[in-house]
Amino acid sequence: MTYGKAPKPPLSPPAVLARKGGEPIVCLTAYTTPIAQLVDAHCDLVLVGDSVGMVLHGLPNTLGVDLDMMVMHGKAVRRGLKSALMVVDLPFGTYEESPQQAFRNAATLMRETGCDAVKLEGGVHMAETIAFLTRRAIPVMAHIGLTPQSVNTFGGYKVQGRGADAHAVLRDAQDVAEAGAFAVVIEKVPDILARRITSDVDIPTIGIGASAACDGQILVVDDMLGMFADFKPKFVKRYAHLAGDAERAIAAYAEDVRSRRFPAAEHVFGDLPASVPDAG
Ligand code: KIV
Repeated sequence: MTYGKAPKPPLSPPAVLARKGGEPIVCLTAYTTPIAQLVDAHCDLVLVGDSVGMVLHGLPNTLGVDLDMMVMHGKAVRRGLKSALMVVDLPFGTYEESPQQAFRNAATLMRETGCDAVKLEGGVHMAETIAFLTRRAIPVMAHIGLTPQSVNTFGGYKVQGRGADAHAVLRDAQDVAEAGAFAVVIEKVPDILARRITSDVDIPTIGIGASAACDGQILVVDDMLGMFADFKPKFVKRYAHLAGDAERAIAAYAEDVRSRRFPAAEHVFGDLPASVPDAG
């Protein structure tokens, strides 16, 4: 199902790497088969993000997401993709302990979901793990800047890398690139820093709340579709307002049921004449 766009040939992590400095890399998240089918023809890369915990499961942050949830949503997304590169997040607590722990859980994600690569959060301190995974056939997308799994140590979802802190984020980018990541997500950092990182490192930078100069962009699909009426981060552009449309549709259905306008004649099935006994 491509809804008007012809399928593209499948992308691989080396093909994404080769897009450094080229045509912008289009990325979105997906967590379900129908959304994966919608985004596939339009996106180069689809991320099964651990944001699924907040977006679909009502969790307050991503810390409560576990490997089973990522496997379940990864399997669903796999069924909906034909050409986009599929990346699945390693959730909190499944990779930080050691490169070996990261390998074991990344291999589970790849085996169970059929994803092409994994993503993990962290820069300098995760470089050893990224090198360990990439040398063992697991392509890794890194994630630096605001890393949501560290929300408690950051004290909130704050812009990272402002002022003198910029050096640390730049160093993170350099280290994950050197360790072998095929791309790096840069979240919520000043535009000037994202530009500097993009020109300094030789792997594609994928921005979210970063800069138009990044090699690609990613958004949480439910954010850009306007599935939440209440809250919109500054870096999200709404391309639709589905929450409002859905609410209006649900209210209209409720009104139709209460006033017996639904189901109408066209929604019910006819029967042969006199086949139903008279009431009473
Ligand atoms: O989990 C997620 O959706 C992400 C993106 C916001 C990059 O990590």
